[in-house]
Amino acid sequence: MKIAVFGAGYVGLVTGTCLAELGNEVVIVDVNQERINQLNRGIVPIYEPGLDELIIRNSKEKRLIFTLDGIKAIKNSEIIFIAVGTPPNEDGSTNLTFVLQVAKEIGKNMNSYKLIVNKSTVPVGTADKVKKTISELTDVEFDIVSNPEFLKEGSAVQDFMVPDRIVVGIESEKAEEIMADLYSSIARTHKPLVFTDIKSSELIKYASNAMLACRISFMNQLAPLCEKIGADIKEVAKGIGLDDRIGPRFLQAGVGYGGSCFPKDVQSLSATLKEYRLENDLIESIEKVNSRQKDSIIKRLKMLIGEDLKDKTFAIWGLSFKPKTDDMREAPSLVLIKQLLYEGAKVRAFDPEAMENTKQYFPDIYYSEDLYDSVKGADCIVLLTEWDEFRNPSWDKIKESLSSLHIFDGRNIYSSKKMIENEFKYLGVGKK
Ligand SMILES: NC(=O)c1ccc[n+]([C@@H]2O[C@H](COP(=O)([O-])OP(=O)(O)OC[C@H]3O[C@@H](n4cnc5c(N)ncnc54)[C@H](O)[C@@H]3O)[C@@H](O)[C@H]2O)c1
Repeated sequence: MKIAVFGAGYVGLVTGTCLAELGNEVVIVDVNQERINQLNRGIVPIYEPGLDELIIRNSKEKRLIFTLDGIKAIKNSEIIFIAVGTPPNEDGSTNLTFVLQVAKEIGKNMNSYKLIVNKSTVPVGTADKVKKTISELTDVEFDIVSNPEFLKEGSAVQDFMVPDRIVVGIESEKAEEIMADLYSSIARTHKPLVFTDIKSSELIKYASNAMLACRISFMNQLAPLCEKIGADIKEVAKGIGLDDRIGPRFLQAGVGYGGSCFPKDVQSLSATLKEYRLENDLIESIEKVNSRQKDSIIKRLKMLIGEDLKDKTFAIWGLSFKPKTDDMREAPSLVLIKQLLYEGAKVRAFDPEAMENTKQYFPDIYYSEDLYDSVKGADCIVLLTEWDEFRNPSWDKIKESLSSLHIFDGRNIYSSKKMIENEFKYLGVGKK
């Protein structure tokens, strides 16, 4: 099939590349000239495991092209994916400017039937807006599909190729047939292809993210209670997660969720409820608990090493909002580093992939060569992102370099017993 994908970000790049890998002819369009130039030189602008090889192979075999020329891409394709950003407005509602810009471009350049597939995360009713925008500009036949993306940064290629499910909101048989055909090889992995109406499909994406975020905030709300009463949040998570009705995932207390999706999608769902004059108190609380959790890291550090942080040095382990990505959007590290600098503390940061991106926010902190360099002269280690390489470092080597042996384990990856045996003053989240 001939496919155009608008947006060469995390979602557009992964979607377009994986569809090329499945044998389709794909052209990925972006308005960011530097990004397209990089991609045409074989440089992949984001870190996503496995993506580089697929991009290089499919570009070489001419199934994958990167371009700024949206008009040609529209005219030459029968399926057009919209995978552009949908950032939040000031009030938490979703800014649809980029989506509607693409819709206009499609409307102006339609030359034959097109199936327009919305992959961006958009509030209920957006498909209608896209349809109206296009219809006002053309008489050529087209269909709209809602096909929300559930990939997780860090395992996005695997998530696309072997998803838990593919949700497709349709309103015509023709659209259903084309989408079933497009995803036939993925459906062969016995993963359900769920066809539904467009509005349900649009809402499924927000409901999924809000539910996952809610589980995290639920545990984060219980963490201080565990600390007060001498319980352990990890034990609580294990105990409730063994219940089949609950399950074990997304029950980790920590420093709060970040990323480009949970914070904005929870706020957008809350704004949608408000727009329809419905109660949004539960959804609003999810985000409230989360911001409080990010803000509480500094209080925990003060509990650990004392109120005065001036001239104290912190080795920050992990900057990205989660492991295996270089994405810094809404990362808890951004909140903490800002607060530490405000308090007059010094920061020695280390992250395996996200240091370049962090420099845009904090150009003047010290970026370390590796985790051993980060601890030189530091008063406290602060583990914020659970990259695998932080799990089993040489504590003897680390102890030689630290000024004093304090560690805040923001993801509860270390055993408190082991850390205390190692002579550290240790603080986790939701532990005694
Ligand atoms: N990142 C994720 O993990 C993830 C997962 C699921 C869904 N989503 C959703 O997918 C959408 C895209 O997210 P992302 O993380 O890929 O965003 P991103 O910011 O990484 O990329 C968006 C890209 O769209 C480009 N763009 C903007 N206007 C354009 C236009 N008119 N024509 C062509 N390109 C244009 C931008 O230049 C940018 O490169 C969002 O709605 C997001 O909520 C993201």
